[in-house]
Amino acid sequence: MSKTRILVMNGSTRENGNTDAILKSFMKGVTESGINVREAVLRDLTINNCIGCCKCKREKKCNFQDDMSELRDMVMKSDILVFASPIYWCEVTGLMKTFIDRLYFFHHEENKHLVSGKKALIITTLGEKEAEYESRVLIEFYRRFTRSLGIEILDFLSYGGLMEKDAITSRPEFLKAAEDAGKKLGGATSA
Ligand SMILES: Cc1cc2nc3c(=O)[nH]c(=O)nc-3n(C[C@H](O)[C@H](O)[C@H](O)COP(=O)(O)O)c2cc1C
Repeated sequence: MSKTRILVMNGSTRENGNTDAILKSFMKGVTESGINVREAVLRDLTINNCIGCCKCKREKKCNFQDDMSELRDMVMKSDILVFASPIYWCEVTGLMKTFIDRLYFFHHEENKHLVSGKKALIITTLGEKEAEYESRVLIEFYRRFTRSLGIEILDFLSYGGLMEKDAITSRPEFLKAAEDAGKKLGGATSA
């Protein structure tokens, strides 16, 4: 087993929906290439909304003691962060946005080194068929916040035309592509 650690943040609100299915295939591919992968299913965790108290900036501590404490440790111990979310109104889901807001902890100059230099992969599921056009706002959002934390985005993977919860069942090629992407990522990091 390679030492590279991959942490997948699943921001879907629907259990057994399209994102879950894509991630299952993706993680299968990663695991097959001998890489450690863990999944944080955000809907199963308690992550409070950032309240902008900026205690993290003043005291290097977050105001909340919730599941984000462990998740922050997992983020720090990982080499590659996978942000996976359906598109909700041109953006990520509220679950994913709340998680990303809480990464503000790492924006503190003295905390930045804890994530700076890590890599990220972005996975997006969406209803519209024109995935590239529909993902534009989202891509810009991901670029800006990762840049300010010193995280490098490796790739954006979009799976469009998936409006209904079970839409993925008629797109086996997407599942294959996600598995191959997992294998490729695993292969690239173990080389
Ligand atoms: C509140 C809401 C907003 C959405 N906004 C968009 C959107 O702006 N563009 C789009 O292409 N699909 C949009 N969708 C469709 C979802 O991205 C799509 O159904 C996705 O496959 C859901 O993933 P899931 O099965 O993991 O829940 C939206 C769905 C919901 C429920």
